[in-house]
Amino acid sequence: MTEKAVLTFGDQQIELPIVEGSDGNRAIDISQLLAKTGMTSYDPALGNTAFCKSAITYIDGDKGILRYRGIPIEQFTQHPNFIEVAWLLIFGELPNEEEHIDFRARLTANELLHEDIKDQFQFIPADSPPMAILSATLNNLACIHKEFLEVNSPEGLVGAAARLISKARTIAAFAYRRSMGLPFIYPDPSLRYCANFLHMMFSLPYKQYVVTDEIQDALNLLFILHADHEQNCSTSTVRVVGSSHANLFASCAAGVSALWGPLHGGANVDVVEMLERIYKGGISPEQCIRDAKDKTNPFRLSGFGHRVYRNFDPRAKILKAACDRVLASMNRHDPLLDIARKLEELALNDPYFVERKLYPNVDFYSGIILRAIGIPTNMFTVCFAIGRLPGWIAQWKEQHDDPSSRIVRPRQIYTGEGERNYVPMDQR
Ligand code: SDX
Repeated sequence: MTEKAVLTFGDQQIELPIVEGSDGNRAIDISQLLAKTGMTSYDPALGNTAFCKSAITYIDGDKGILRYRGIPIEQFTQHPNFIEVAWLLIFGELPNEEEHIDFRARLTANELLHEDIKDQFQFIPADSPPMAILSATLNNLACIHKEFLEVNSPEGLVGAAARLISKARTIAAFAYRRSMGLPFIYPDPSLRYCANFLHMMFSLPYKQYVVTDEIQDALNLLFILHADHEQNCSTSTVRVVGSSHANLFASCAAGVSALWGPLHGGANVDVVEMLERIYKGGISPEQCIRDAKDKTNPFRLSGFGHRVYRNFDPRAKILKAACDRVLASMNRHDPLLDIARKLEELALNDPYFVERKLYPNVDFYSGIILRAIGIPTNMFTVCFAIGRLPGWIAQWKEQHDDPSSRIVRPRQIYTGEGERNYVPMDQR
């Protein structure tokens, strides 16, 4: 017998089905609530609402578990390969040799920006926010590649995915070069994904940037750990925009805008700025903790807390270890890492954080690695977006391929004025 929930209010009683997912995921199906009761549910910020079914990413917030298509993220750390994880997320299985070679070839074939798109950079002020450039330019790709506005064919989706994943990297590098007043360095087809990105970022006309294996692995790992995270703010945004049948470029451009916020992907910038303030003596770690607990102070401990994880964010654990590896490989010491560790120690021994189950999240250590690679702080969230693109594409495709999916249109509780009349200007 299928289990049901019973909702009783006044003289009404209705039965609501229970939806079973994999791994113990359960939900009360309220899709008929309005029809049966004339009332909607009320769940601001949707913290208690599953707004879709998905087979892409599984999170257990209490146990600190994160799996991509069933594979625990810890299993990608040995030989990190961002492109094969991108394929896994989008198409559901790890690529075989032929698929991997073909997808890499597609990425190489799509690494250039159309010269008309490249030329737009000269009219963008050098101090423009890179996230604004990324969001706008992803949308602009639709002006040039009209054939990818419709991705109803599987071939169309593979092509569009390769185009987006490859060009996002070039757009990011060109935005950085524009901000530095440096000439654009074109992609090098002989380089793998991450090495090519760093080549476009840091090579000079007279000196080629050569990436070390450790840095290449660290960036692959960082992109992998950011690749998807079920229905977070930016991914839900991509689904909402895509639900109107807006094209993949426009949907991902909207995802970039949502990710930009300091409560979401922008936190990695805030974390490093917070650590630098402590390092430069503006504030002590202990003062930071006090400010974060002070309800009269808007300051929050950036890189801490999470809507879903009530345990360590497994990505933070992996990135913390990666910080040590990257810095050791460069024979470098970053005092900000010591400060980050001190903040973590203070917070994890403070009842305020322990009671609220606030642990380091993915943004707490990621900035240390990006700094070590030489990526400037204002490019951190852009790197998050490059990593998250395969997840956005996968989630957009899953919704696009679902014949039962409908345009997302939530309801509201109206709290405004009752009916009243228009007042002419001379009577106001
Ligand atoms: C990402 O959703 C995802 O999956 C996102 C992400 C992904 O991969 O897509 O994981 C990436 O966005 C990670 C989060 C990055 N953001 C930050 O690090 C910013 C700092 N963190 C907080 O703003 C906060 O923890 C959020 C936004 C992450 C979560 O917010 P919630 O779930 O709405 O938590 P809340 O505001 O309800 O907080 C509950 C309590 C409150 O105190 P009380 O009212 O109970 O007294 O915890 C407090 C909050 O004040 N709190 C914090 C805090 N985070 C929550 N207090 C101090 N410092 C913090 N960081």
